[in-house]
Amino acid sequence: MNDILQSLNKALARQGWLYGDKSHRLGHPFEWVDGDRHPELYTTIDSLSILLYLSMFYEEYATPDEVLTSDYEQMKGYYEEQLDNFCKHFFPFSKLSPTPLASDLKTYIGCHALGRTQDYCFIRKNCKDLTNSIKHLDIGSGLGSHALYSLKGLNSEFYALEASPKSYAVQRHFLRFISPAPGAYLDLVELENFEVTYDAMSKELNNNSKYKIKHCPSWFVPLIQDKSIDLITATWVLNEVSFSGILWLMSHASRVLSQGGYFYIRDSSKLKPGRHSINYDKLLNQIGFVEVARLNVRNRIDYYGVPRVYQKKTDAAYSFEELGESFLGKFAVTAHGGEYVQNLENMPKLKT
Ligand SMILES: C[S@@+](CC[C@H](N)C(=O)[O-])C[C@H]1O[C@@H](n2cnc3c(N)ncnc32)[C@H](O)[C@@H]1O
Repeated sequence: MNDILQSLNKALARQGWLYGDKSHRLGHPFEWVDGDRHPELYTTIDSLSILLYLSMFYEEYATPDEVLTSDYEQMKGYYEEQLDNFCKHFFPFSKLSPTPLASDLKTYIGCHALGRTQDYCFIRKNCKDLTNSIKHLDIGSGLGSHALYSLKGLNSEFYALEASPKSYAVQRHFLRFISPAPGAYLDLVELENFEVTYDAMSKELNNNSKYKIKHCPSWFVPLIQDKSIDLITATWVLNEVSFSGILWLMSHASRVLSQGGYFYIRDSSKLKPGRHSINYDKLLNQIGFVEVARLNVRNRIDYYGVPRVYQKKTDAAYSFEELGESFLGKFAVTAHGGEYVQNLENMPKLKT
């Protein structure tokens, strides 16, 4: 994982996050506020880290009829099989473990497969303008499991965007394991390790269609071409980042998504205290996105999370600075963390 940390440190220096206004006032955008509260994440061994991400799904909520597609069972079975293979690869000893590892794995595989199949079906049902071959950017990929339905059901080139070195390290295992062919997985940190130029990295990332899975640290998102992405997904991530993080992700989302492209969100639909206070659903409306579907459910009562999807109706893109000016104001100080924010202007001024 050291190479990922080094890549982050280089980017912090190169992009000017270590000094001046951006550092002292806003803070850098590559923090996982929830994850960074768990320093043990940085000390656990590989297989235990994998479990952490696999087990982010551990509850089952029935799939409502309005979400079901004709290939629902097929996709769910595919997920179960792929996740089971992945677990056999990493936990061949599961039955020997004195903890109930084997039965726990079964639960996590089942719940994870269910949750991701629900994501797929919701997208399939509601993103009616998606074509047969798309570019899909997933923000904050966790295990990386959006890639499975994306490659199989949406015939995509899949971009996994990640800011946490620990998460990135886990995704390396998963994404390499599920890569559909030798040489179909591109890891931008590896390119940097071999001193490939940023220009060449960008060409490889955007123009070489032999890659089906592109692993991109969030600090390299500027390398993704404008208007090149058809679908963005962000599940259980947008309310776990800092002020700077949400502005960075939203500004690049507005830049890389093509007009008519979709932005799918699934999370509690609530802001969490101590992270940031920018209502990202409203922000999307203000920068020209229109909600096309939302499942009418209560989080963790009827369903896990609240799925909703927006369509980008404009050609406009907004820079980090523009969004910062509109949603924070000139004088806000957010660098010290969500509970010590100063001079925040509450009323966003942005007009589309
Ligand atoms: C709760 S997990 C959700 C994982 C996955 N989206 C899912 O639904 O299974 C949050 C994920 O977002 C990533 N993340 C956190 N902060 C981020 C940021 N500022 N930029 C990009 N990704 C971030 C975390 O590292 C982790 O992979």
